[in-house]
Amino acid sequence: MAEKKVKVGLVGFGTVGCGVAKLITEEADAIAAKTSLRLELACVVDIDTQSPRLVKLADGILTNDINRLLDDDTIQIGVELVGGTDAAKQIQLKLLEAGKDVVTANKALLAEYGNELMHCAHKNGRCIAFEASCAGGIPIISGIRTGLAANEIRAMYGIVNGTCNYILSNMTSKNEDFPEALSQAQKLGYAEADPTLDIGGGDSAHKLAILASIAFGYEIALDDIFVEGIESISKDDICYGGEMGYCLKLLAIGQKDKDNRISLRIHPSFIAKDNRLASVNGSFNAVSIFGSAVGQVMYYGRGAGMMPTASAIVADIIDVALGNSATTFRHLCLKPRNQTAALIEKIDNLVTRFYIRLMAKDRPGVFAQVGKVLAENAISISGALQHEGQGPDNTVPVVITTHPTRQSKVTAALEDLDKLDTICSRPVCIRIVDIPEDKEG
Ligand code: NDP
Ligand code: HSE
Repeated sequence: MAEKKVKVGLVGFGTVGCGVAKLITEEADAIAAKTSLRLELACVVDIDTQSPRLVKLADGILTNDINRLLDDDTIQIGVELVGGTDAAKQIQLKLLEAGKDVVTANKALLAEYGNELMHCAHKNGRCIAFEASCAGGIPIISGIRTGLAANEIRAMYGIVNGTCNYILSNMTSKNEDFPEALSQAQKLGYAEADPTLDIGGGDSAHKLAILASIAFGYEIALDDIFVEGIESISKDDICYGGEMGYCLKLLAIGQKDKDNRISLRIHPSFIAKDNRLASVNGSFNAVSIFGSAVGQVMYYGRGAGMMPTASAIVADIIDVALGNSATTFRHLCLKPRNQTAALIEKIDNLVTRFYIRLMAKDRPGVFAQVGKVLAENAISISGALQHEGQGPDNTVPVVITTHPTRQSKVTAALEDLDKLDTICSRPVCIRIVDIPEDKEG
């Protein structure tokens, strides 16, 4: 078959942009042999054309003038890898209006302005492909949309932020401190330009909004998602949870019940050490999905970093060039198949188990006081752990796990516990998530 030349323009020559440039230039022959498409990087736009980069471009390709890309009608595809929601939004709108299809990894922009961008793409007869926006190199979006098309998706449990997973893994297995682990994740190119998006859970929420919208078929707003990050996680809690058989992960959870009520949440979660997600470490991501016909499916792979993300971007470029994305895009909207608004379950109604740690004065009657507060709030204890004199000022860490309890009751109990003069710092509370597992036999 004769080769078809496909010219690509890239905006944003940072971590992922460099990976895309490297893949297109180094793998052009292999891609052509497989697809009959000859990808050519025609133009790379970045505000900074001076700093040294990991990838060397041919002379004349790098520019700080986006009009070189917009005005060149021979460039069919524009790849936005600038990040953020301000300049990136204008860039995507301009690319679409200039008649180019858009490929992007920008989950923040899609989660916030997805509908507006999709509308602009439809209006201009173009498409937007965004596989790289969720879980880096894992083809999760096409997995849900195409591979699981025959299923009603009932739940998803995902580790979707490589930076947080890297931090929690290193705090758990290498005894590293939080700042040290975060700084390494930044050096490795996993973190967002603003890493508070990673550690505060916002990046996971962006991804959950996109995935849940496709999986459940409702328009999902960021406000629909309860978000708690990992900023205040201490090595002590990872350690005590570990002693009780749990591993700490930042989970993105989406569930739809039989009445179509949807629960969407991001929070640190203790999961059983023998659950498959517990062995997902470092920058790896994994998403466990429960479908009505297939049962449990788990997607696993590198969720962040230059080359894994570039892999998803270049796959989208190929899909766009082959015309597959345009077909998919006609059927896909982030404004999806259900015309009614999603019924979003409030976090107060969540029923789950909890890990609670108190720093208690080491004196008679304290355990009884704590038990009384929990009993008054109808909370049943399922496990307890106390180490001898480890805290400051003659305090001891008292760790309690509960049976399934409504969040609102635990919130009330924590307020009551905080008022006890024998409890010396604010109680720590982490949800325990019992993820179902499909097992043979
Ligand atoms: P970087 O910050 O490394 O790269 C962004 C690049 O865009 C920088 O070179 C930046 O220049 C440049 N830039 C900023 N503003 C403009 C502008 N107005 N016009 C042209 N260039 C501009 O980000 P990443 O490569 O890490 O991320 C890019 C996108 O990919 C983001 O949306 C991110 O969320 C997403 N993503 C990232 C992953 C990762 O592992 N890194 C994984 C999955 C998705 P300067 O540095 O001078 O500001
Ligand atoms: N900052 C993101 C992460 C990049 O750490 O997962 C991948 O989306």
